[in-house]
Amino acid sequence: MKQTIAKGLFDILPYLDEGDFRYTHYYRYVEEIIHQVAFLYQYSEIRTPVFEKTEVFARSVGTTSDIVTKEMYTFEDKGKRSLSLRPEGTASVIRSFVEKSLDQRSKNNKLYYISPMFRYERPQKGRYRQHHQFGVEAIGNGSAEQDVEVIDLLLTLYEKLGLKNLNLMINTVGDKESRDSFRKEFVSYLIPLKEKLSEDSKVRLEKNPLRILDSKDKQDQELLKNAPLLQEHLTSSAKENFEELKALLKSFSIPFVVNNNLVRGLDYYNKTVFEVTAEALGAQISIGGGGRYDGLISTFGGPDLPAIGFGTGIERIIQTMIAQEAPFPEEKGPKYFFIPLEKEAKTSCFSLVHELRKKGISCEIDLKAKKIKNSLQQANTLKAESVVIIGSEELEKKVAVIKNMNTREQIEVPFDKLIETMEK
Ligand code: HAM
Repeated sequence: MKQTIAKGLFDILPYLDEGDFRYTHYYRYVEEIIHQVAFLYQYSEIRTPVFEKTEVFARSVGTTSDIVTKEMYTFEDKGKRSLSLRPEGTASVIRSFVEKSLDQRSKNNKLYYISPMFRYERPQKGRYRQHHQFGVEAIGNGSAEQDVEVIDLLLTLYEKLGLKNLNLMINTVGDKESRDSFRKEFVSYLIPLKEKLSEDSKVRLEKNPLRILDSKDKQDQELLKNAPLLQEHLTSSAKENFEELKALLKSFSIPFVVNNNLVRGLDYYNKTVFEVTAEALGAQISIGGGGRYDGLISTFGGPDLPAIGFGTGIERIIQTMIAQEAPFPEEKGPKYFFIPLEKEAKTSCFSLVHELRKKGISCEIDLKAKKIKNSLQQANTLKAESVVIIGSEELEKKVAVIKNMNTREQIEVPFDKLIETMEK
């Protein structure tokens, strides 16, 4: 029986199907630009395991969040330990930061990762059970400048990749004091309206009322119109931080809109939160988001340090690039593609290929070459720069034909001059 892939997953192939995003070359290009931008802003790469103890995520992302309650791939290993596939990157990075005392290595740890994430979600376009995320976590600096650096890094990445029509939304969810004070008034407002709330929001009212703010349900949104505002409960320090952030963004001419309903789905946020949506195929899709999470590190047993970060989905970036017709660079092929049409030619071509590869020149050989037409077609598919043909005539004359696939120009080169010519 033919085996098939599990639901919500996909393979990334070295072949492009027109309009598809699951193409290795696209991923490599986006990843290359990510590494460049991370270097530009001086973030260092961190790699954490694909799974962690379940409590690493439960404690930080939040025991009432959708990610933890509905979407985690949790399993027991043979030692009866509860482990979970990583649904997001922040928790693992903070676990590592605390465990390895990274604060003692540097005052300001600016880390980044490109990793697969796993979430048991209903698969649809832009939502998969395994996706790849580029994320950064800047730990140790609580200033608005740090917020702006993180946001600016994300926007610079999008810009370098040619994304257009982006919309940056920002908000503050206040500090703990602001949220505690707001929660009381918000819950008192909603309790008499409980029966009118959506099922999800009814549960959230009990467990995590703030999440009701970003409900997509129409009736919920209607009820929220007269609800008290979190902004009216901000402590002076939370307010000041947000005002500074807005002023700095303006001074850098970074356009943004304040969206007071933006709370995001993870429990660790504190003060600044943000999200970037992109216009693609007539719809706004959320391509990246993050926020500040001062206070999280101490819950992991680490020092009380401020931190901010974001995550952006590589699939959504590529899909938006395709929809917006942002250019991808041409995929490069081998410099030489050898076509030995005779059995005797095959051995000498094979040793030439070996020698050229040792010299750092990329080449391929058609070991099954029979008809020149088929081999040329293969060279074309591979985007080879030149082909090297040796048939019976060439063998007799002890020459090889080198044909440039772009200019169609061809030259005959004696065997003993081949390497020398090819190296040029
Ligand atoms: P998040 O908003 O849950 O944040 O995910 C970040 C990005 O990952 C989303 O904007 C989206 O592009 C992509 N993404 C999420 N789920 C899926 C999915 N099922 N399929 C495809 N793409 C998806 C976080 O994960 C936080 N850790 C971000 C952060 C870092 N906050 C502070 N530091």
